[in-house]
Amino acid sequence: MRRGLSKILITGGAGFIGSEFVRLLVSLREAVSAGNFPWQSLVVIDKLTYAGDLSRLKKAANKIKFYRVDICDKKRIDGIFAKEKPDAVVNFAAETHVDRSIRDARIFLETNIIGTSVLLDTALKYKTERFLHISTDEVYGEIKKGEFTEDSPFKPSSPYAASKAAADLLVKSYIRTYGVPAIIIRPCNNYGPWQYPEKLIPLSVLKVLKGQKIPVYADGRNVREWLFVGDCARGILHILNKGSIGQVYNLGSGQERPNIEAVKLLLKILGAQERMIQFVRDRPGHDARYKLDSRKVRRQTGWRPKTDFREGMRDTVGWCVKNKKWLLSKWQNIAGLYRK
Ligand SMILES: NC(=O)c1ccc[n+]([C@@H]2O[C@H](COP(=O)([O-])OP(=O)(O)OC[C@H]3O[C@@H](n4cnc5c(N)ncnc54)[C@H](O)[C@@H]3O)[C@@H](O)[C@H]2O)c1
Repeated sequence: MRRGLSKILITGGAGFIGSEFVRLLVSLREAVSAGNFPWQSLVVIDKLTYAGDLSRLKKAANKIKFYRVDICDKKRIDGIFAKEKPDAVVNFAAETHVDRSIRDARIFLETNIIGTSVLLDTALKYKTERFLHISTDEVYGEIKKGEFTEDSPFKPSSPYAASKAAADLLVKSYIRTYGVPAIIIRPCNNYGPWQYPEKLIPLSVLKVLKGQKIPVYADGRNVREWLFVGDCARGILHILNKGSIGQVYNLGSGQERPNIEAVKLLLKILGAQERMIQFVRDRPGHDARYKLDSRKVRRQTGWRPKTDFREGMRDTVGWCVKNKKWLLSKWQNIAGLYRK
């Protein structure tokens, strides 16, 4: 850990990627000898929406301080900064499901934009030394050929992507106008253990476990760049340690696969048949392909993704089967999300 950044505040730390990041930091702390901790205290804040779940942090529970709070709540966020005085903030908190944003965008605008502005204002007031903002590849929209660099223009397609693009621009404006020491990270599509089963991979496993068909949009040929969540968390840590203030970093794996290929692979791992797939009406505004040029993060921080897609999928599907009770406990929240 970079010297001086010993108190870290993580927003959205009970979510899929945020909790992976928390578990990574805790495991690193356990791996180094006492008195030699790279960080001294970890504060996690999360509203615990339908997508947040403290069971993801069970193994880290006695190593962190947790506050249940909405990042839009300026007064409470101020109180937490005043008390905890974090050196660094890593902002994962967001509403994240594209299909929900198409149904109703309001909470996406509140959390993703207003919430980010509250955190920025508070970090400015308390002179936080580092502000890492987790944006997304979706801010660029789709790209049929080639790759997006960090300078590619924004062309978000969904209300989710538009709200993330607004937050990303807001962070940029605070860097330029107020000199907030922020860094923006734009990861590609994550998959891995603990992902909420509204997202393609765990949703597909859950459907098979329920004996139901897997809904795949259109012909399934939309291409995503798949990043194993453990690699994403390590990438974020690399950027926290070695990234330059004011910079933007794409965080991609280079492993492109059409959705249908990912689903067929997981069916094979599960020993299930391809007739479990049901093609459904396409998502409005569905991006055909995302692909990031991630040379900058590799060059400047030395980060490399370690997990091959097939290996990551085996781990993920294996985890889902082992944790089927957890997946099934989310069923009520996702039933009805995908129509024929
Ligand atoms: N999952 C991906 O593939 C992916 C890819 C690129 C970028 N991202 C970005 O990474 C971040 C984390 O994504 P994720 O997949 O872990 O999401 P997630 O939906 O699993 O977790 C989001 C977390 O934020 C919390 N949260 C929501 N609203 C909040 C609020 N108002 N105040 C405090 N906490 C709140 C939720 O309770 C949840 O724990 C998001 O910013 C997302 O846009 C995700």
